Amino acid sequence: MNKGHSPPATPAATPVPQPYHRDSRRDFIWLTLGWLASLFALAASGFATLRSLVPNVLYEPSRRFKAGRPGDYPDDTATFIEEVRLFIVRKGNSYRAMSGICPHLGCTVNPTVGKYPFLCPCHGSHFDPNGAVVSGPSPRGLAWHLVSLSKDGRLVVDMDQTVTHDKTLVIKA
Ligand code: FES
Repeated sequence: MNKGHSPPATPAATPVPQPYHRDSRRDFIWLTLGWLASLFALAASGFATLRSLVPNVLYEPSRRFKAGRPGDYPDDTATFIEEVRLFIVRKGNSYRAMSGICPHLGCTVNPTVGKYPFLCPCHGSHFDPNGAVVSGPSPRGLAWHLVSLSKDGRLVVDMDQTVTHDKTLVIKA
């Protein structure tokens, strides 16, 4: 017997490394979700980039229209077309189109009698026969628009094109 002596120490058991147990299904799901999120972010940023290349523009319909036959307008008159707030001015065989919209704040100008044939009822701007402002707060005269003749013999007014007051359409008899 080995009295007085402690038994020989057994070496401490070294921990045996356990193999890492991967839950492959859970990993697969997280990996898939990660990829999907990445793809979604990529697609969203790609869409935003492409969208930024498209200008934010509202396309309005053309303001060019047929205004009837020249003979519809009596000589030496300014005929008002209410829908487009425009005067067709006829003098003999010449035709012009003058805006009836006051440049001050956009009221509709009325024909009136007297020296200056157009009057804005809102703040009293007066315009001469050429649309030039002669009194009142309007900062400029009335706009004139291009008039042409279509193949079927009708007046065509292009309200997207402004011209000087002396630009007339002359129709030869
Ligand atoms: S809107 Fe015509 S004068 Fe003011």
